[in-house]
Amino acid sequence: MKLPKNLLKALVNQVNMEYASAYLYRSMSHDMKNIALFGYAKWLDKQYQEELQHAEKLVAYIEDRDDVVNFLPIAGVDKHYDKPLDVAVDSLSHEEAVSASIRELFRLARNEGDLETEIFLQWYITEQVEEEVNARDNISGFQKAENSEDLLYMFDKYLSKRAD
Ligand SMILES: [Fe+2]
Ligand SMILES: [Fe+2]
Repeated sequence: MKLPKNLLKALVNQVNMEYASAYLYRSMSHDMKNIALFGYAKWLDKQYQEELQHAEKLVAYIEDRDDVVNFLPIAGVDKHYDKPLDVAVDSLSHEEAVSASIRELFRLARNEGDLETEIFLQWYITEQVEEEVNARDNISGFQKAENSEDLLYMFDKYLSKRAD
């Protein structure tokens, strides 16, 4: 069964937001490489891959519903970072915006009575809780390391161990 028009439009916008997230994290990892924080850069590269998967999963779902995705232009990233704490702070506000967008999408699916999409989106609701926890943990870590090169080195090392 095809998706209601307004729900399809909102899902397609979410695809775009996930690709834009991937673009943002890749740009952040690039900036962290440039200041030799290779652990955080690696962490952000993993996040970049994860965002691509978030987008792919939505695309596959729309395909399963026999519908069409318009691949919209992806927002550019022209901001650069020279402090990891700023990256973590911006990541949290970005993830909060993504969470709000997913919640809105979920409400729309519910209003449309589209049970399949409601169930599909549950995974994203849970995932966003994790994304916000990660961003907050990174903020705390970099706050503690703000006045200590040793702590910064250790926290960067710790971040390099992110499994997936
Ligand atoms: Fe995402
Ligand atoms: Fe995640």
